[in-house]
Amino acid sequence: ILSALGARSIVLVGMMGVGKSTIGRRMAVRLKLPFVDADTEIEAAAGMTIPEIFERHGEQHFRDGEARVIARLLEGGPVVLATGGGAFMREETRMRIAAKAISIWLRADHDVIMRRVRRRADRPLLQTADPEGTVTRLLTEREPIYGKADLTIASRDVPHDKIVEECIETLH
Ligand code: S3P
Repeated sequence: ILSALGARSIVLVGMMGVGKSTIGRRMAVRLKLPFVDADTEIEAAAGMTIPEIFERHGEQHFRDGEARVIARLLEGGPVVLATGGGAFMREETRMRIAAKAISIWLRADHDVIMRRVRRRADRPLLQTADPEGTVTRLLTEREPIYGKADLTIASRDVPHDKIVEECIETLH
């Protein structure tokens, strides 16, 4: 697999709650590549949590930082990179990813996403009166763009390792 990848990274894209970080970490182990998580790197670079960045500086500031962090993470050797759910919406970021990596959209339906994001309160975009409606709106806006990824894998309610296997097989 590694030879087929050449020096390319693997970048996981898709909505909040689809399992990008968990699946990415396990793929990295399997592929013997370092795993990096864009959200974690942004928090480290800012010295703040993502909700704090949104609250103090706003979403636009977060998005600019996110684009810079992803560009930096793709500069070095190949990695498996989990991106935040909005990162792939920026054309410049998509172009960088296309130049350096194979992108995989982890696609999940509305119900699976809702079930998973309900467990955590760390997504500022969902701190609204109507998180369900927000997820519906974001899916409508974003799915056509996630669909530009090189590969699409359905993330559903099966053990994560099964999804990891499917991702790795699809890379062959
Ligand atoms: C966001 C997703 C989050 C995080 C931020 C914004 C989004 O990442 O980057 O809260 O716009 O979908 P996850 O997809 O890892 O939850």
